[in-house]
Amino acid sequence: MGQTAEVTSFTFATAARISFGPGRRSELAGAVAALGSRPFVCTGSDPSRHAELLNTLPDAATFAVRGEPTLEVVRAGAEAARAHGADVVVGLGGGAVLDAAKIVAALVTNGGDPLDYAEVIGAGKPLSVPCLPLVAVPTTAGTGSEVTANGVVTSTEHRVKVSLRSPSMLARVAIVDPELTLECPPEVTAHAGLDALVQCIEPFVSPFANPLTDGFCREGIARAGRGLRRAYADGTGLDARTDVALCSLLSGLALANGKLGAAHGLAGPLGGYLGAPHGAITAAVMVEVCEFNIAHGDETTKARYAEVAHLLTDRRDPVALLDWWNETTAELGVGTLAELGLTEDGIPVVAAAAAAASSTKGNPVAVTADDLAGILHRSL
Ligand SMILES: NC(=O)c1ccc[n+]([C@@H]2O[C@H](COP(=O)([O-])OP(=O)(O)OC[C@H]3O[C@@H](n4cnc5c(N)ncnc54)[C@H](O)[C@@H]3O)[C@@H](O)[C@H]2O)c1
Repeated sequence: MGQTAEVTSFTFATAARISFGPGRRSELAGAVAALGSRPFVCTGSDPSRHAELLNTLPDAATFAVRGEPTLEVVRAGAEAARAHGADVVVGLGGGAVLDAAKIVAALVTNGGDPLDYAEVIGAGKPLSVPCLPLVAVPTTAGTGSEVTANGVVTSTEHRVKVSLRSPSMLARVAIVDPELTLECPPEVTAHAGLDALVQCIEPFVSPFANPLTDGFCREGIARAGRGLRRAYADGTGLDARTDVALCSLLSGLALANGKLGAAHGLAGPLGGYLGAPHGAITAAVMVEVCEFNIAHGDETTKARYAEVAHLLTDRRDPVALLDWWNETTAELGVGTLAELGLTEDGIPVVAAAAAAASSTKGNPVAVTADDLAGILHRSL
């Protein structure tokens, strides 16, 4: 690597409009009305959680997404959206719901099956027709999916999570209201928040970093350092919730315009293999990924990790990041990969898939399947 700080040529794309701040959910009805008259709303398993907001969309059909979306779920969602005559899609929920909404919006206009467009296990065809317009409203602070151009779907048959990806999957409007996260239980706060932080650290140390993503990552890392433990300890604190929601939004802006790294390269296959929460997985492998990159990276990589450490602690030393990560994951109750269900037997298949994952190509140090197997082994 070595070019991180010098890259000055880049493209930046995001949602056409981003509204951020407490109370901004009141903009939902107006945003939807400006885009269509037959809204199709993907929600989480308990739509009544957001009844007040849904009541502002009287012509909407709702579709409850339970757990992370599978191929079957997005196929059913697209069918229901077509039956409703949907002309605008809303995702109101965690990252799983936002991803389902993005994929539904793509399938309604493009037709066909998700496997026609999915990476890795599918045909990977481009989405040639613009997706239905999407309004994305996250209710967790973690994925930044409201501003990314991909949707993640699980194939239970292949035991893997893969993306459909297109610039046309970017939301037309992203409404990020930290008040919507006030009722997230501590475990969701921990997993989602740590994932947001990983999504700020990986693009920051990646050779594909650029000056715009760097700015987002620095602010996002500092916000997570300030707010994550507080949001976990007391979910009712709007200050801390706002810090973590902003970290999440900034992480989405960074990852969509930079690249991730080996923690996310591993998370795709591990998520499909274990069925464990995405954020729990990225948090569980992160310390070993960082340790590997610090040990094998060049001076630029080490300096970047030192800066991350300094944003989170008072020490400008990569080792301080590892200490911070271990302390924080212990405080937030994040388990090891063994506790999430991985055994030695599963390591070769996960490592081989992760070596081929597109996120892995953003890692600051080139990694082989053997390197990734070592990281998995040490993360058990
Ligand atoms: N497209 C992208 O750019 C991108 C990026 C990162 C992750 N992802 C995907 O996002 C998913 C993870 O998203 P997540 O971390 O938000 O978890 P999630 O969407 O799975 O939600 C976790 C749990 O929190 C609950 N929940 C959501 N909002 C709540 C609220 N306000 N109050 C109480 N409970 C609430 C949900 O019902 C669920 O049980 C994974 O599928 C991952 O692959 C996508």
